[in-house]
Amino acid sequence: MLPLENDPNLLVGRETSDDAGVYRLTDEMALVQTLDFITPVVNDPWDFGRIAAANALSDVFAMGGRPLTAMNVVCFPSRSMDKAILGQILRGGLEKVHEAGAVLIGGHSVEDSEIKYGLSVTGLVHPGRIVTNAGARPGDTLILTKRLGTGILATAIKAGLISPAVEREAIESMATLNGKTSQLMASYSVHACTDITGFGLLGHALELAVASKVRLILDSAEVPLLPETRELVHMGLVPAGSYANRNYCTHQIEQRKPVDPVMLDLLADAQTSGGLLIALPEDQARSLLADLREHDVSHAAMIGRVVGGTAGTIELA
Ligand code: CO
Ligand code: CO
Ligand code: CO
Repeated sequence: MLPLENDPNLLVGRETSDDAGVYRLTDEMALVQTLDFITPVVNDPWDFGRIAAANALSDVFAMGGRPLTAMNVVCFPSRSMDKAILGQILRGGLEKVHEAGAVLIGGHSVEDSEIKYGLSVTGLVHPGRIVTNAGARPGDTLILTKRLGTGILATAIKAGLISPAVEREAIESMATLNGKTSQLMASYSVHACTDITGFGLLGHALELAVASKVRLILDSAEVPLLPETRELVHMGLVPAGSYANRNYCTHQIEQRKPVDPVMLDLLADAQTSGGLLIALPEDQARSLLADLREHDVSHAAMIGRVVGGTAGTIELA
């Protein structure tokens, strides 16, 4: 473990496993910086580019920031693979950078046997309007803005086990920016936010519970799911990363009544470019939810609440 940095302008560092680092430039302006790259989760290179870029941009949105500039991070086997594939990946990524209102200013690529792509993103946020994962308070309601199950569906896509329609739904969910959500939540008193990615809902919710020193109650019946994910879990199609998440989280999770093991796998499913998990006062949560649904964030749902109790734990109801 590296020693922590100690600089008065470092507003969010590595200590709380937050989505991005934040560095104060002036009293009105801070930089939000993040880097994220992934291996292909879908077969189509253009879709993969869109998804990887949306995934990387999401960490700036989760902090309440506005992306400004992006740089490509590329690993590609150019000796054995058609360069046109890389071109499509980068075009998909660029579309998302532009949709986010940012500018692509460069990048770097290395020769590698396996494709990897993502972005290093720099954004801006007002130092007084930073949303971290450490501010959730007892009494808050939790909103999740996208459906779960992209890890399971990516495995099924690779195995050719799902219909083109379901595949398209999974792809569009992952390629959707969290930008609209981030923009809307700026008008509310949001106490905490994080995006749901590789550690699954349980893993990232746990990080939020630890950082905020609170207990979360998750109502598993309210958690929105992508189509056919339950059936695929029944068939045993759970990726290794999601199993690892579930095992890692279990000792900090209490089940009020036994939760369906299929649901547990879904709650732990490793997400790519998942939604935002937002904590805010209950009355505010109702208006934000209505606002989100009105602006095409149609799968957003209230999935639980924040209580006192044992800090850094989750209760499944
Ligand atoms: Co994140
Ligand atoms: Co990230
Ligand atoms: Co270089």
